Amino acid sequence: MPDPNPHALDFLLTRRSRPAKTLSAPGPDAQRLRTLLTAAARSPDHGKLEPWRFVVLQGAALQRLARAAEDCGARLGKEEADCAKAAGAFANSPLCVAVIEVQKPSDKIPAIEQSYSAGAVCLALLNAALADGWGANWLSGWASHDRGFLADALGLAPNESVAGFVHIGTETSAPPERPRPDLDAITTWVSE
Ligand SMILES: Cc1cc2nc3c(=O)[nH]c(=O)nc-3n(C[C@H](O)[C@H](O)[C@H](O)COP(=O)(O)O)c2cc1C
Repeated sequence: MPDPNPHALDFLLTRRSRPAKTLSAPGPDAQRLRTLLTAAARSPDHGKLEPWRFVVLQGAALQRLARAAEDCGARLGKEEADCAKAAGAFANSPLCVAVIEVQKPSDKIPAIEQSYSAGAVCLALLNAALADGWGANWLSGWASHDRGFLADALGLAPNESVAGFVHIGTETSAPPERPRPDLDAITTWVSE
């Protein structure tokens, strides 16, 4: 017989991201964050390649990234409001973990499976933070796909990219539930 964990299941059935712009300080301290990162690193990873790593951004680093996002937006010809929004996501974040996808050479594990694993790490980190009582939000944005921004602002190598920026902080308001998928529309039951 299964040995249920009703608290864990209830969490998964009700979990909800908190918009990054509603998060305030403090975020988790280093020790608490280590626990959340440990949970995130316990994610499915075909071939044990560990195709991911973390960059913890706080304080002056977030202000530096905000400036880099502004510069990136100007270079890409983005509207001023878009640049300000992208910069604000870093400038106003209590703490942000960049989950870095690190593509590893492998004859066996396709690149896309390494990307899936990096995505799983983002969700695991988001869920660990929410389960620990923090507000958290997984964001990307155009800067996160710009090679210049990734190399200059985050020092990423060519085989590295940002799977997600996971912002973590104290929640100031809980958003209403958002529409969830119609399970019957996305599920096919096959028994023969
Ligand atoms: C890869 C990825 C990137 C995302 N990037 C953004 C983003 O840049 N801006 C945004 O508003 N939401 C973004 N989202 C969506 C947010 O995470 C959103 O808050 C989420 O859909 C809320 O869902 P939840 O309550 O089920 O966690 C992204 C989601 C994923 C999976």
